[in-house]
Amino acid sequence: MTVISDKLRGADAAPTADWVTISDLHQDPFPIYRRMREESPIHWVPEVNRYMVTGYHACHIIENDQATFSADETDSLMKRAMGHSMLRKDDPEHDVDRRSYGGVLRPRAIKDTWNAIFLQNSEKYLSQLKAAGPGADLVWEYCAPYAAENLRQVMGFYNATQEDMQRWSQTMMDGTGNYANDSDVWARSDQSFDEVDDAIDEILPYLRKHPDSSLLSKMAELPIPMDAIRANMKMTIGGGLNEPRDVLGVAVWALLSRLDQLAQVLADPSSYSMVFDEAVRWVAPIGMYPRETTCATVLEGISLPKGARLGVAVGAANRDPAVFDDPEDYDINRTKQPHLAFGGGNHFCAGAWVARAAVAGIALPQLFEALPGLRLDENNPATAAGWVFRGMTSLPVRWGA
Ligand code: HEM
Repeated sequence: MTVISDKLRGADAAPTADWVTISDLHQDPFPIYRRMREESPIHWVPEVNRYMVTGYHACHIIENDQATFSADETDSLMKRAMGHSMLRKDDPEHDVDRRSYGGVLRPRAIKDTWNAIFLQNSEKYLSQLKAAGPGADLVWEYCAPYAAENLRQVMGFYNATQEDMQRWSQTMMDGTGNYANDSDVWARSDQSFDEVDDAIDEILPYLRKHPDSSLLSKMAELPIPMDAIRANMKMTIGGGLNEPRDVLGVAVWALLSRLDQLAQVLADPSSYSMVFDEAVRWVAPIGMYPRETTCATVLEGISLPKGARLGVAVGAANRDPAVFDDPEDYDINRTKQPHLAFGGGNHFCAGAWVARAAVAGIALPQLFEALPGLRLDENNPATAAGWVFRGMTSLPVRWGA
């Protein structure tokens, strides 16, 4: 107790960033993050109703200290939208749920099972593109259905379509971000909540009889409470679809806008892994996630009260010049430093291997091979948006002569 109060005595209060608006963040958060980081690693942001943590080191400390920075946020909208998943639990409860995923998302299963499925899915959507081409909006005609179909099969939702997966993911994510308490948003989110429960109830008995490598099959064999299964499946639908879609879109856009780096990659396909890492660093698909202090504390010289709601802005931390040279540039040749796009500590993304395999291992090389002459459509500029989740909202491209 004495130690904490001594620490608190020397600490500063977080500066208030009353100039930050959600609509500016949504449009382009990066100039805002730059100004915030230059001022302080932590701000109180009235419009967001949180302390936003934008400094790399401060985010890193939070990720590795769950005793002080709990993931189990009071009045969590995610819990309201999806139930109490592992993402909003601390250990030891979190650990029980996390272990229930076993090896389903790990490298061995990717090698033995998922790579072949991802390849098949990529070929399917690419051949549809080629038949309809020579132009498309790559986000909605390739990245989104590819990511959704991969996740559908990895999870074992054989009684749903990839379109269902996209709708469930989007509506429940909208619920998770429904700070305005909009009743229409809740109605759509609640409908998906019920549909996912029905789909789980229907498929589990089938998978008990016909076990396979999927996540739901793994769930079917475990004695873990149904509430936990339901919440974890919903969180994984929300967290495992948009992110691969968004990193794929951003990576393609970055390369097509930097022809020297594109030429380098086409000459050396082993660099797709760097393309992937640099894309998640540059535009973190999950730009911010919540934590809550369990006691009064001091973080990087800033005092925080007990119960402080934090936004861990890894999208900002990934561009901290204290760690990354020329952080605003997309550069596949940069000296590698660990980024925070997959989180860290006990909540480090469970799907990071799957995302890397699907995007860097299959989608990117397949795409550039199948569509020679791939380029941005000069008449229709690409668009990006978002800050809590960020990605391309359109990516018009053309290919061929
Ligand atoms: C580029 C793609 C992806 C990115 C950038 C990403 C990012 C993240 C981040 C930042 C977290 C931690 C959030 C927090 O601590 O609050 C997380 C957790 C998680 N992710 Fe991902 N993710 C990606 C793809 C996937 C995929 C494809 C899946 C599933 C197939 C997945 C499943 C999960 C799960 C289950 C957790 C919860 C882990 C835990 O609480 O222990 N993610 N992800």
